[in-house]
Amino acid sequence: MSGIIVIGSQWGDEGKGKVVDVFSSQSDYVVRYQGGSNAGHTLIVDGKKTVLHLVPSGILHPKTKCIISTGVVLDIETLIVEIKALKANGLLQDPSQLMISDTATVLLKYHRELDQAREEEARNEKIGTTGKGIGPAYEDRASRKAILFGDLFNPETLKAKLEKSLDEKNFLLEHKYKKSPINIDSLLKDIEVWTEELRPYRNKNTSYDIHQALKADKKILFEGAQGTLLDLLHGTYPYVTSSSTISGSACIGTGIGPNQIQKIVGITKAYTTRVGSGPFPTELDDEVGQHLGKVGNEFGATTGRKRRCGWLDLVALKYAIRINGITNLALMKIDVLSDLENIKFCSSYEIDGVETHVYPSTPGELAKAKPIYKSVKGWKGDISKAKALQDLPAEARSLVSLIGSEVGIPIDVISVGPGRDQTIWVKPLF
Ligand code: IMP
Repeated sequence: MSGIIVIGSQWGDEGKGKVVDVFSSQSDYVVRYQGGSNAGHTLIVDGKKTVLHLVPSGILHPKTKCIISTGVVLDIETLIVEIKALKANGLLQDPSQLMISDTATVLLKYHRELDQAREEEARNEKIGTTGKGIGPAYEDRASRKAILFGDLFNPETLKAKLEKSLDEKNFLLEHKYKKSPINIDSLLKDIEVWTEELRPYRNKNTSYDIHQALKADKKILFEGAQGTLLDLLHGTYPYVTSSSTISGSACIGTGIGPNQIQKIVGITKAYTTRVGSGPFPTELDDEVGQHLGKVGNEFGATTGRKRRCGWLDLVALKYAIRINGITNLALMKIDVLSDLENIKFCSSYEIDGVETHVYPSTPGELAKAKPIYKSVKGWKGDISKAKALQDLPAEARSLVSLIGSEVGIPIDVISVGPGRDQTIWVKPLF
């Protein structure tokens, strides 16, 4: 049993891509199991930047096999762009390195258009979606209308499903949102070309293959997208994404049992960011917030939007630990905190005049939460070359140990910069 889940413990953008990339070199398989091209992993390897939205970050390691499993919504146009870019960079030379589940949900341009049209119309109630069509694609899956990846290889099924889908989608686009309808013939022609490009990566039974790999004691990394607080059921609803982003989703999205999971690694930035709307108790609307955004380069990898920034919230982190069953933590981007006079973290909330350590279960309550902070002394100077705990200034070491003891979980990884080698391994992963 060597399944490990890597999960974001905040509102996404915690730095999962780098952790998955580093852990991938030790993994036989890396599996994406939910979300779609709303995710964006920026990887810096040998100074070269690669942004991946759908292909698991493990693709950078030629010996690691990557699987896009059933729970993912697959924007095939984006996927092709990504595959071409990887190939142009000398990666993905062997098609058997990438497997796409026949039962993943296909996302097409009408999903994107509907997503964007709805968001435009929402005026003051915008979710802040990435506009990548994620919500409409998952709606199709839930209403049993989705085109599955395997359907692409069966022209009759594809045409029938597309006709049915467009019947409804074009009505909405044309009459409700005053947009141009989608022409089925030209879309079918495009899909025919895309299908041939994707044929080499088709896999008819990823759930079985993952089982077999687990039975053979292969090391499998399940790569979460987005973050805990964007979970459809347990996040800050309605300001969430349309998939389950918590660890249980790794089992649902791939078709394996929870007893196959050995470790759940929570990725936590040393401060907090959020893109899109919704409550954010520790948000900073001041110079420190601007400093975090600037030094941390907090702009979305998918949309380029400026991320909202604030202090680390341990009430939210403890919630993430609880609902994901997080066993180990990776603390990211602590280098961004260098040169701050004092560093704060939220250790409890005050809601209606009462102090609580429990993350509220409703967004209304969360909106009322006032953070109660603890403050520690900061450090000066560059820590991005630290290779071991003892290379960090005493103040940074004590911050790390304070966070670990407040949340009761070991911090196994500390990241001090974007590069692979800018990582302190307190304990090995596997
Ligand atoms: P959607 O997933 O595009 O529908 O967006 C819903 C909400 O989730 C918005 O607030 C987005 O900004 C946020 N979101 C979606 N994907 C990501 C991600 O990968 N990182 C951070 N936020 C995300």
